[in-house]
Amino acid sequence: MEHQSSPTPHVLIFPLPLQGHVTPMLNLAELFCLANLKVTFLNTTHNHKRLTRYTNTEARFACYPGFRFKTVHDGLPDDHPRAGASNVKGWLKEMIQALASNGKSLLREILVGEKETEKVTCLVTDGWMSFANEVANEADVPVIAFRCPSACCNWTYFCIPKLIDAGEVPFKDDEEMDQLVKNAPGMDSFLRYRDLPSFCRNQDISSCRDLQDLFTGEIQRNQQAHSFILNTFVDLEGPILSLISSHCSKVYSIGPLHAHLKYRLGQNDDITLSNNSTSSLWEVDRSCISWLDLKPDKSVVYVSFGSLTILTKDQLMEFWAGLVQSKKYFLWVIRPNLIIGNDQDTQAQDGLLEGTKERGYMVGWVPQEEVLAHRAVGGFLTHSGWNSTLESIVAGVPMLCWPYFADQQVNSRFVSEVWRIGLDMKDTCDRTIVENMINDLMERKKDELERSMDRISHLAKRSISEGGSSYSNLNHLIEEIKLMSK
Ligand code: UDX
Repeated sequence: MEHQSSPTPHVLIFPLPLQGHVTPMLNLAELFCLANLKVTFLNTTHNHKRLTRYTNTEARFACYPGFRFKTVHDGLPDDHPRAGASNVKGWLKEMIQALASNGKSLLREILVGEKETEKVTCLVTDGWMSFANEVANEADVPVIAFRCPSACCNWTYFCIPKLIDAGEVPFKDDEEMDQLVKNAPGMDSFLRYRDLPSFCRNQDISSCRDLQDLFTGEIQRNQQAHSFILNTFVDLEGPILSLISSHCSKVYSIGPLHAHLKYRLGQNDDITLSNNSTSSLWEVDRSCISWLDLKPDKSVVYVSFGSLTILTKDQLMEFWAGLVQSKKYFLWVIRPNLIIGNDQDTQAQDGLLEGTKERGYMVGWVPQEEVLAHRAVGGFLTHSGWNSTLESIVAGVPMLCWPYFADQQVNSRFVSEVWRIGLDMKDTCDRTIVENMINDLMERKKDELERSMDRISHLAKRSISEGGSSYSNLNHLIEEIKLMSK
């Protein structure tokens, strides 16, 4: 009798082409490579060029014979900004639609067109791109959805349709903002209207439903996936993970992925981890490390609003003045497209320039994990993006949160009220408040924040170490992927 061997497990990974999604999914790809799975990583041509230009990513993966990059054009014109969080509905929807119409045929080709030995046996797709699920279903390839945001944000997205039906969403700014949300099981004792994702505010019902479809419709479409991967850990979000599990087939919480990868690389004698290994889509300026080297322990506030936040000039000036008035050292990432309008027009008063010269350092993009791990950094003024939050937790650095949009409002509430590892400055941007809250972070509330942060940081590291929950969950996930190819 002729024996037909099963195909080698081969995972196709397809991220939404944004920094906060590409980074964790590349980390996942490398974790799969370490488990000897074959991996194809589908990048947009635009992002792949940036990765190759600014990082050693190709060299990083060259040691894995089963790994390959493939690229697909994102369908947007070359001069498209591919960002602009001030009109998220506009550009994000445009980006996903363009990618769907441009990417489907290549996706189909990869999923069905390969020779038997190359056959993809599992698609891990970004939870934002359910169009990929459709193609995989046609090709009979099982899908696992990778949801980049926190479990608490994903659970909020699950609850939003109910909140709309109950008339709690949309709501008007300033009206009832501090009231508790009633229809959010597991969070109703502390989640206020102001902590809901930004698109719940100030919308008419039809725009709100439209945005809800963009943000939360995807999660419902993901429910058809075989399982979910979340970049979090049980000791941090256990109760919320249980609520999500009651709505999905299987949930694998395997984070924090960046630390998990470092741990497993450390266990592997054949691979050396490069200190400069980043997946940055911007050019990293390492001069900030030499600047930090000269500063006392825990004396610097690191300031970054991630890859998508946009500041108006007024907001920029309030943050700037607050930082200078706090009299603390600060390292501030001013991304090339951070400020709306022409940043050349922003006239700083002499006092600000003097104060910055004495205590501040501004750069376009930093190696963030390395910065957060630097002994000189004592606090992080952040937009509460989920990757930044996890990186801060692993480094044990308390946060001052200024959430901008989407998941960040929920994250910052959990940071301040549930985990107590930071302070929440949401909905205010005033120099005196910035100054006072930085002093709370770095002095007045430092000890209590550090105590809770040390505990949670320890739990994070325990979860990704041998025997920890994320470590075991990743092993189970890999086993499941292997079974899919049988
Ligand atoms: C977006 C959303 O905003 C975020 O909330 C969501 O969960 C993922 O997608 P982004 O806004 O970029 O991401 O924030 P974040 O998730 O924090 O990701 C930013 C990444 O850029 C982090 O991994 C951070 O280390 C990196 N970074 C940022 C740098 O490497 N250098 C910098 O100078 C700034």
